[in-house]
Amino acid sequence: MPTATAQHLIDGHEVPSRSGATFESLDPATGAPLGTVSFGDESDVDRAVRSAATAFDDGRWHHLAPAERARRMRRVATLLDDNAERLAELEARDSGAPLTKTRGDVGAAAGLFNYFAQLPEHVSGRTYATEPGYFIYSTRTPYGVVGAIAPWNFPLLLAGWKTAPALAVGNSVVLKMAEQTPLSTSEFGRICLEAGIPPGVINIVHGDGPTTGAALVRHPHVRKITFTGSTDVGRQILRDAAQEIKSVHLELGGKSPNIVFADADLGQAVDGSLFTTFFNSGQVCTSGSRILVDERVADEFCQAFVERAAKLVVGNPLDPATQLGPLVSRAQQERVTGYINSWREEGATVLLGSANSTPAGTEGGYFVAPTVFGAVTPDMRIAREEIFGPVATVIPFSDEQQAVKLANDVEYGLAATVWTQDLGRAMRMSEQLEAGIIWTNCPNHGQWNVPYEGHKLSGLGEDKGLESIDTFTQLKTHHVNFGGHRSRWA
Ligand code: NAI
Ligand code: MG
Repeated sequence: MPTATAQHLIDGHEVPSRSGATFESLDPATGAPLGTVSFGDESDVDRAVRSAATAFDDGRWHHLAPAERARRMRRVATLLDDNAERLAELEARDSGAPLTKTRGDVGAAAGLFNYFAQLPEHVSGRTYATEPGYFIYSTRTPYGVVGAIAPWNFPLLLAGWKTAPALAVGNSVVLKMAEQTPLSTSEFGRICLEAGIPPGVINIVHGDGPTTGAALVRHPHVRKITFTGSTDVGRQILRDAAQEIKSVHLELGGKSPNIVFADADLGQAVDGSLFTTFFNSGQVCTSGSRILVDERVADEFCQAFVERAAKLVVGNPLDPATQLGPLVSRAQQERVTGYINSWREEGATVLLGSANSTPAGTEGGYFVAPTVFGAVTPDMRIAREEIFGPVATVIPFSDEQQAVKLANDVEYGLAATVWTQDLGRAMRMSEQLEAGIIWTNCPNHGQWNVPYEGHKLSGLGEDKGLESIDTFTQLKTHHVNFGGHRSRWA
């Protein structure tokens, strides 16, 4: 049996799968194997969940003083920072994302542990008006075992994002990272243990979705699922969670409009649109790659946008100059190039890019060159389906009313960006756009203390901020009769 580079973390120990099964994590820049990883089946998931349930039942974490839980969570942040360069490099190699991006992700993972470390001391309930002799109050209690399932686009960051708020309010967690990017998650587990998160409070099981992820969702001792990934899998999770009436928190896909009005600062709009479209090669849930442009400035915008997109540096993720690395997997590359080719047949105009072009020296990797489609009509699939690759679609509009209609005419509702210098227009757009986050002149601006929630097919439940307390706890109300009130039948 080969020794896996990344094993499961169960009850504080790194262990292989019971079956001995493993899989390879690949380097997307070359296609070469990078590490052997334990593949967990139902019995491994069961071991992890039982460990988490025992840890919860004996109170080794949620019975600690809130300030002590906070201290240990801040220690996770410090250790992430202390190991930042090593983690960023590992993640760049495992995910294909440029080092500049993965460095930011490690810093953000530390940032969110520092932010969520404030939560233990802010969990609170309420008291309620009632008649004399009664006292009614509420408390928020942890669910017990939370199952966390993460995708590959921000591995370490999402490992933290899925687990930190759940841990902060006292839950135990079983985490399954995406099969494409498991390596930094194992490092994350070690850091949590070293920081003093007790054994069994955080467990990690590696594996795929249909076997490992589904076993976690279906396990009867898991009371809450938090998931980030595709809308289709979100639907499947809701179906699987129905049997045990589990609480489900979903952060799903998007097709976010990025609306450029003629009164915008066009230079600022071009910069921001480039970033929101091509950052992480477009593999971002809030990517604003559905660009709606006022027809009066469409030519000017397109010219500047395409000129700049053509100069983006595509290449080796470890090269500090690289802006776009490869896509995460061969499957993702084929999915995106398949889309590009079929849309070309639908009649969209290619303003930049060729589906099959790979920059010199990147043969073998899963690269896709930045691609821009112009003259897209709203009924084309290209205008409606999530791409998750470095592909922009430009759709012209004639007035504000039409912009709103086009923006809202998709099944998703994650985010929307508006570029304008007219405050009244900004406020009118913000009011009418159907999305959980509206960015005016600042796509992808985010802070841990600011919550959001995907609308329509983009999600279920609130993320980040103090709202996370409600997301990861249950309400309990307590009615106390201290006034000697007797039963109605007394
Ligand atoms: P996916 O949704 O299949 O994978 C995300 C996670 O869910 C992975 O950990 C996977 O193992 C797990 N999973 C898959 N099937 C499962 C099941 N039945 N039960 C429990 N867990 C399961 O996403 P995939 O296939 O990697 O990417 C496909 C598309 O999904 C992308 O092209 C993109 O459009 C979208 N996506 C959106 C993300 C977001 O940030 N909202 C992240 C990743 C993908
Ligand atoms: Mg990999």
